Amino acid sequence: MDKNNKRVALVTGATGGLGTAMCKKLHEDGYRVVGNYRNAEKARQWQEKMKAEGYDIELFEADVADFEAVGKMIKEIEAKVGPVDILVNNAGITRDGVLRKMTLEAWREVLSSNLDSVFNCTRHVIEGMIERGFGRIINISSVNGQRGQVGQCNYSAAKAGMHGFTKSLAMEVANKGITVNTISPGYIMTDMVKAIPENIIKEKILPGIPMGRLGGTEEVAFLVSFLASEKASFITGANYAINGGQHVY
Ligand code: CAA
Repeated sequence: MDKNNKRVALVTGATGGLGTAMCKKLHEDGYRVVGNYRNAEKARQWQEKMKAEGYDIELFEADVADFEAVGKMIKEIEAKVGPVDILVNNAGITRDGVLRKMTLEAWREVLSSNLDSVFNCTRHVIEGMIERGFGRIINISSVNGQRGQVGQCNYSAAKAGMHGFTKSLAMEVANKGITVNTISPGYIMTDMVKAIPENIIKEKILPGIPMGRLGGTEEVAFLVSFLASEKASFITGANYAINGGQHVY
């Protein structure tokens, strides 16, 4: 990777497990990396830790479910750092529960944070990317958007929706130097997965992963780095599975 690369990469949900690994990798690749967060105290601690490890990553606050707040954040990033060339739509939440027990609130929260957020963030950067003739949109979906999961009607619907968005936008901007792709991670070693009851991980999830292990956050970050690169310019509208063989199709 070109170490003089001064393209700006924005990772939403930067302070989570996957977001952190992506920020580090893109920083190592030479991008000017900016992150988005929602929890101020977590963000402060995160930034301190990153600095101590040698990563200079500026953070910007916005609830990605809020269209206006995202617009304000993008303006701040443009003014302080520069226009966003690479957008990684990574922020996401779970509110698991079988449909019989799922509240309307749990449905709406997941759909707005995981799917509306993709519209909100992309809508605010796409015009600039078209003007500059370059862009990379990388949507972090999930194996559970590809194959479904007990307890995740909301999450699976949002994650499957992300790839529909990817395919349509990929076609719209294919002749503008912009690629749009989805990554569908399987079960990765993050707080989100660690929150699943241990017996479910041992008895239901691990036996379904042919590699017999959870994925590492840095393994997903490596794929983000690949799709962000100049050389990945002919790849668009694709959905990359990274799941240890859990779902092959
Ligand atoms: N596969 C198959 N069946 C499952 C299952 C699974 N992974 N998880 C639960 N079930 C079944 C249970 O065996 C049970 O079946 P019976 O009624 O026949 O006994 C039924 O579903 C209900 O399960 P619980 O008794 O545990 O019910 P609950 O209401 O207390 O909890 C649940 C349900 C919320 C789905 C809970 O089981 C759970 O948290 N499961 C894990 C869900 C999951 O994998 N979430 C992924 C989070 S990580 C993530 O989303 C990141 C990513 O992108 C991969």
